[in-house]
Amino acid sequence: MIEVSTSILSVKKGKEAETFFALEKSKTDYIHIDVMDGKFVEKDNKQIMLEYSNYIKRTLNTQLDVHLMVKDVKEAVEEFSAVEPNIITFHLEACKDKQEVMECIKLIKEFGSRVGIAIKPETKIEDIYEYLPYIHMCLIMTVEPGKGGQTLISEMVEKVSKLKSYIDKNNMEIDIQVDGGINLKTAPKVKEAGANILVSGVAILMASNYKVIIDELKK
Ligand code: DX5
Ligand code: ZN
Repeated sequence: MIEVSTSILSVKKGKEAETFFALEKSKTDYIHIDVMDGKFVEKDNKQIMLEYSNYIKRTLNTQLDVHLMVKDVKEAVEEFSAVEPNIITFHLEACKDKQEVMECIKLIKEFGSRVGIAIKPETKIEDIYEYLPYIHMCLIMTVEPGKGGQTLISEMVEKVSKLKSYIDKNNMEIDIQVDGGINLKTAPKVKEAGANILVSGVAILMASNYKVIIDELKK
């Protein structure tokens, strides 16, 4: 089954509430919250993303999928756990060593969310293998993290296939999420390669009818 997680990074100012309600009505499986700290990536949007998350938690039933593009993972996990996300994903590149990665995994589990680890385009897929037994999802970034509306880097499709065969070979049950430049043209390629959770931002938010595109992405 394919699930869709809609990124609200590029939501229009002043149209937030109506967009969030329309996304829920259009049956997005998750709302994807992109958190940036001005250190791991250039932009800093942490406060506004905390506000959006709180608003969504209070008013909607759609599950939250929090993508932390931050250096201080533990601090952000504590802040965002208050909205009880279904998934919290942090970047492997934000941690200095294995011990720190394992501590972040443990903290997210203690707060009751599922755990995802994200890797940037230049990070090798093999680097994630040792953590797979402890996590629920691997997020393969299909663009450089930092902003919405970029073009998918086509070499990343191969990375998805490689992870999918590794997971199948080892009889693991782990979600593969892709994020960045996912639209009706790129979605068939990443699905075919084995991705089962598609993050999509501008392709959905710019569409006149969210449900049509979400349904099409899920096919
Ligand atoms: C990139 C973010 C993404 C991205 C998705 O740093 O993690 O979630 O904005 O949006 P689109 O689909 O617009 O590339
Ligand atoms: Zn994201």
